[in-house]
Amino acid sequence: MQSVEIAGKASVAFSIVVETDLGSPALVAAREALLGRAMGRNWKKKSSQKLRRGRRPSEGLAFVARDETGMLLGTVRLWDVALGDGVVGDGRPALLLGPLAVDPSLKNAGIGKALMAHALAEAKRLGHGAILLVGDAPYYARFGFSAEKTGMLSMPGPYERDRFLALELLEGALDGACGVLKASGRKAKAPRLAQAA
Ligand SMILES: CC(C)(COP(=O)(O)OP(=O)(O)OC[C@H]1O[C@@H](n2cnc3c(N)ncnc32)[C@H](O)[C@@H]1OP(=O)(O)O)[C@@H](O)C(=O)NCCC(=O)NCCS
Repeated sequence: MQSVEIAGKASVAFSIVVETDLGSPALVAAREALLGRAMGRNWKKKSSQKLRRGRRPSEGLAFVARDETGMLLGTVRLWDVALGDGVVGDGRPALLLGPLAVDPSLKNAGIGKALMAHALAEAKRLGHGAILLVGDAPYYARFGFSAEKTGMLSMPGPYERDRFLALELLEGALDGACGVLKASGRKAKAPRLAQAA
């Protein structure tokens, strides 16, 4: 358990655990509600969703922050993608991060940072070479993300180029990377998993 201080409230204890109940209706509903509260109703329209829809997160790389009662406080997931299609880009593997979200009532207390630190460490431990995401550069810069290596890569849909960021976990993993990102993760079997993204 870790704990964070929330202004005007007692400290909140939480733990970060890997999602083992990916398709459970209770978790799906809690995640959807949290993402709606944190990101607004349109979060499913983002280009990143094209790479997540109908897929399962990368093995061992979907995390939740829960309080002592089991209530969901935050979520982050990483997804398997290929960089390019073999014609433009060599199709090398990478991870796509997102959504990352924390319950708005606990904003800026350190839960997002803890989720990110945990997710990056696990991705590295599992041998992944690079992580991409579309998000706020000033936030993700603190974890080492930048647009430096995404210039020749693109998302399969509209996105803001200066928000398309990457982090190498292995030096040189994105050298020469180009092409459009493609979903390469395991397919979700049950319909409810497809919606769980
Ligand atoms: C963005 C988010 C995940 C951060 O998690 P959090 O637990 O609230 O914040 P953290 O404790 O990790 O980080 C707080 C720090 O990040 C900064 N920060 C938070 N959101 C930021 C943003 N969108 N852009 C730049 N900086 C941001 C805070 O000002 C604070 O800075 P400080 O450490 O210098 O005081 C969370 O606020 C959230 O769910 N937001 C809505 C959904 C979203 O935007 N998801 C990310 C997609 S870009």
